[in-house]
Parts: sequence; structure tokens; C-alpha cells
Amino acid sequence: MKRVINYSAGPAAIPVEVLEQARDEMLDWNGTGCSVMEVSHRGKEYDALHMETMDLFRELAGLPKDYHVLFTTGGASTQFMMLPWNFLGNGKDKQADYILTGNWAKAAAKEAKRYGKVTTPANMELEGEKFVAIPKQSELALNPAAEYVHYTSNNTVCGTQWQYIPDVKGKPLVCDMSSDIFSRPLDFTKFSMFYAGAQKNLGPSGVTVVAMKNDFLTKAIDDLPTMMSYKVFKDKQSMHNTPPCFSIYILNLTMKWLKKNGGLAAMGKINDQKQKLLYAAADNSAGFYQGLAKIDSRSWMNIDFKLPKAELDEAFIKAAKAAGIVQTKGYRSMGGIRLSAYNAVSLKDVQTTIQFMDDFRAKNS
Ligand SMILES: Cc1ncc(COP(=O)(O)O)c(C=O)c1O
Repeated sequence: MKRVINYSAGPAAIPVEVLEQARDEMLDWNGTGCSVMEVSHRGKEYDALHMETMDLFRELAGLPKDYHVLFTTGGASTQFMMLPWNFLGNGKDKQADYILTGNWAKAAAKEAKRYGKVTTPANMELEGEKFVAIPKQSELALNPAAEYVHYTSNNTVCGTQWQYIPDVKGKPLVCDMSSDIFSRPLDFTKFSMFYAGAQKNLGPSGVTVVAMKNDFLTKAIDDLPTMMSYKVFKDKQSMHNTPPCFSIYILNLTMKWLKKNGGLAAMGKINDQKQKLLYAAADNSAGFYQGLAKIDSRSWMNIDFKLPKAELDEAFIKAAKAAGIVQTKGYRSMGGIRLSAYNAVSLKDVQTTIQFMDDFRAKNS
């Protein structure tokens, strides 16, 4: 068996130790004689795991007691709908600000338009779904009538990332952190709500973690389908229906791995080294690897660049695969190469990749 260096944008690499533990516990989890997929979610073993996972999330994020942690399903995309439905309702008269910095930010705004009026403090789209920059604080034209301000902290497709938390003048701030959650320390108490599909930095697809401040949650409307209501998720500890038990189990193991390795502070240091090395390899390549994002907006998680000719992009992807470095193809709207260096991609993996990039350049320039 040979593990590859996996730059998939999501579902993405999971730490080997987590996979090994899951393998070892597959037939007999926690002395139950079953896997975690085969026990009742109402039983005491699963209940303990579920509550511990919420606590671990709270602990890693440093969340005070007035935050609720919810485990939802339907991916981050379902949050694009749940958020406006809960806070704008169906009347179409309420407003919300959506900052447009990438394809996913646009997708969130598109859903919100079904429920209310969407205003855009900044729209960074250049043309045809191309986004390369994050707006400056001074460029944000906030709507004083907005119920909340939504933004996407890391733009998975175009490889840009907010390097600051926007000041939204006291409005509830909501953030889609799907592709950079827990990659470095952050003051999570600045957010009224943040959410992330787990399948990049937190484990597998199937569970979406939503953290919500109580004073924001209480503003949610009540008349909603049961499974769309944040209040139901909170009141029922995310167990109104059967939760995605296996995904939550892997989320639990992934957060224990993160904690054991020094938590967000240690992870932030490693991710900083990784991104510095990768961008330096591009910047010092005499134009062979050209970064796609504006330098001050570059993502630590998704490193996008292109080679001088499209044929070389293809050759790079093929040669990388042969060298055991996989899923390096850029998203179709951006082209080129995308290296998604999430938490489970190690510094050593990145060093190996840089060696490959240098060799490839020497052979092809
Ligand atoms: C930033 C961001 N938001 C939302 C999504 C959509 O997530 P899901 O597939 O879990 O609905 C993605 C998926 O890649 C993403 O990167």
C-alpha cells in the first residue's frame, strides 16, 4: 500500500492516524462489538461521543458558553438556504449583506435572494466567475438595514482568503469557513454564526458544523419546517432525527488529532510555513509558476497557479500523479493548478512537492 500526497480540494486528505484508528475500531467500537455505524443514536455510547464532539469543537474554537454547536446535514450548501430562511423568513422584505469574493459566496447569495433582498457590500468578480482579490475594509459599503453580513473566509476555487475579520459595525457577522476552519487561530467570538462542511479540515463529508451565538439564534423565526429550524437543532442537541453518526465520529477523531498536535496555534504555524514555501516556489520560478490570486489576498489553503502554456499544466498534473502527488488540477473557471494544502497535508508533503516542482521546471523551461 502506498499513500499519495493528496491535494484534493474536498473531500480532502484525512490524517493517517485518524484513518488507522477508524480502521482498528471498525468491528468493535468502544466495546460495543459493533462499528459506530451500527449502534443506536439514542444509546449511551453514541450520546457520549456526540456530546464530546460538540465540546471538542467548542474547546478548539475557544467558544464561550453562549454559543451553540449544531451538527447539520446537506453540506454547507444547505446552510446557504437555512440561514436566510431562519433570519429573513419568507416575506421578502428583509435584507442581508453578502460580500462576493468567489463562486461559493455567490452561491450563498443566490439562495438568500429567495428569502429577501440581498445587498452586496463588495463584489470582487472580474469576469466569468474569476475572482482574485479580497476587498479592503474601506471598500465595504455596508447596508445599515441588513439583518446580517455574510462572507466566505476562504475561497476554495480561486485561492483567495481574508487575512482580517471585517468590521461590520455591530451587525451580526456570519461566515462560511468551509475551507479554512481550524487552520489557524481566529477570534471566533467575532461571529454571530459560522459554519463549515467538514470535508476539508474537519474530516469527512456528511456533517456540517454550525456554531451560533445565542442572541442571534433567538432572532430566528419559528414557523419553519422542522429540519430547517436552527432552534430545533439547538433544542434537540442536533438529534431530532438520526445524525450522520459516522461522520461525527471521524470529526471527533480529527479534532482529537488536532488537539494532540497542539491545536490551532500549532496548526497555524505549520500552515503558515507550508503556504510560504509553496508561494516562494512559484514566486522564485522566474515566471514559470504564476500565482493567480493577488498577493495580499492569497489563500493559505488553496494555492492556485498556472504554467506558461496550458499544455504544461496538463503535463504537470500527469507528472505529479506519476510522482505520487495527486488531485492538482485547478477548478475549471480558473484553469492551471490548485494545491489544496489543508491541515492533513504535512510540511513534509509540501517539501516533497516543492522538490517535484523544481525538477519539473528544470526539465520543462
Ligand atoms: C467555501 C465553500 N463553501 C461551500 C461549499 C459547498 O459545500 P458542500 O458541498 O458541503 O455543500 C464549498 C465546497 O467546496 C466550499 O469550498
